[in-house]
Amino acid sequence: MNRMPAITRSLLIGLLACLAGALIIGGAYDLAGARTTFLLLLPLAAMVLLLAHWMAAHRRRLGGLARQFRFGVIVVVGSILASVWIAAYAMFLSHHDAVVVSVMATVIGVVALRVGEIVSRGVTSDVESLRDGLEAVGGGSRDTVVEVGGDDELAQLADSINAMIARLGAEEASREEADAARRRLVASVSHDLRTPLASLRLLVESIEDGVATGQTRDRYISQLRVHVSVLTGLVDDLFELSRIEAGDIAWTMSRIELDALVGDMVEAMRTEADTRGVRVEADLPENRLLAEANPEKVQRVLFNLIQNAIRHTPADGSVTVRARSSSGEVEVEVTDQGTGIAPDDRPHVFEPFYRGGTDSSRTTEGAGLGLAISRAIVEAHGGRIWLESSGSGTRMRFTLRSPVPG
Ligand SMILES: Nc1ncnc2c1ncn2[C@@H]1O[C@H](COP(=O)(O)OP(=O)(O)OP(=O)(O)O)[C@@H](O)[C@H]1O
Ligand SMILES: [Mg+2]
Repeated sequence: MNRMPAITRSLLIGLLACLAGALIIGGAYDLAGARTTFLLLLPLAAMVLLLAHWMAAHRRRLGGLARQFRFGVIVVVGSILASVWIAAYAMFLSHHDAVVVSVMATVIGVVALRVGEIVSRGVTSDVESLRDGLEAVGGGSRDTVVEVGGDDELAQLADSINAMIARLGAEEASREEADAARRRLVASVSHDLRTPLASLRLLVESIEDGVATGQTRDRYISQLRVHVSVLTGLVDDLFELSRIEAGDIAWTMSRIELDALVGDMVEAMRTEADTRGVRVEADLPENRLLAEANPEKVQRVLFNLIQNAIRHTPADGSVTVRARSSSGEVEVEVTDQGTGIAPDDRPHVFEPFYRGGTDSSRTTEGAGLGLAISRAIVEAHGGRIWLESSGSGTRMRFTLRSPVPG
């Protein structure tokens, strides 16, 4: 039945209704009356139904919902009047009865028009709310909430529109946040490149002008080398960070012995720690600690965290690197006895180029990329890195996945 074209279905319904009417009249009165009823009503029913299809196809010409409904009522009341007068013509009704039924049908028609107006008012106002809401969204508003009075298809539409507005707002906010972060990054990069480049220019000019000679010249050349290596490190770090963040990860993951890796890294950092009078020690479990990771990248994370800890710990203080397994993961913690990170800085330390502390307390050694790179590496491994709260000093933790057994 559903496959049948709508017009055919309407005509079939009209035909069945006329047949039923004719059968009732045939049963109650006579067969001739039944045949007349059928033959007179069938073209009327077909005409009215075709008119309704025409209306549906040309809704645009009929204007608003209220007008469409009014037109529908007029067609229905018109068809009732026509059928009454057809019946009168066929002598089923007296002239008096036909007038009475016509007046009743007209009065009911007028009442139906008013009822339609009242009912369609709610629908119209909901449609207007939807239109106003969409116009507001189109105009840039993202806190619009479309409210409708009913609990019908229009209410479902309003719910979908509200969900869409919320999604748009969230997407725009995160895009704006990303844009602001990119602008901050560009500003920081320019600043961090400009400072060593200015020193480089001064040194080169002094050497070129012959101002620096002998030992001074040699010292300037070694300073030049330091600036060049700082710049190279900065550009390499930036490149690495942007590659990881873009998902361009070409590392191979393997089953690594994390305890051995941590032990080796602590040994490798001992010289730098000794120069500053800082003790550095590894606190490792007795048994092997396996992780699914890329060893060079994990070394990089460990290096960044231990270097930070050593840099911020005063002489005679100590740095501890602890590793252990924890509910299907492995967890590494780097604790130091330094000044700690100020509450205002804590939410930002993983942002690229963020250097905490005050200008005077800030170490001049870093670009503020170490923790950003560490976070990118750890997250690319499917792990987490965070700043654990600690009474004094700083406590950094990160996790890596344990290898799947077997
Ligand atoms: N162990 C720590 N103790 C105190 N502050 C820290 C510690 N680790 C990080 N921070 C703070 O977080 C900031 C960001 O650290 P991050 O490692 O990203 O940059 P950086 O060490 O300044 O430079 P880079 O690592 O690029 O050489 C640091 O500037 C510092 O203020
Ligand atoms: Mg660092």
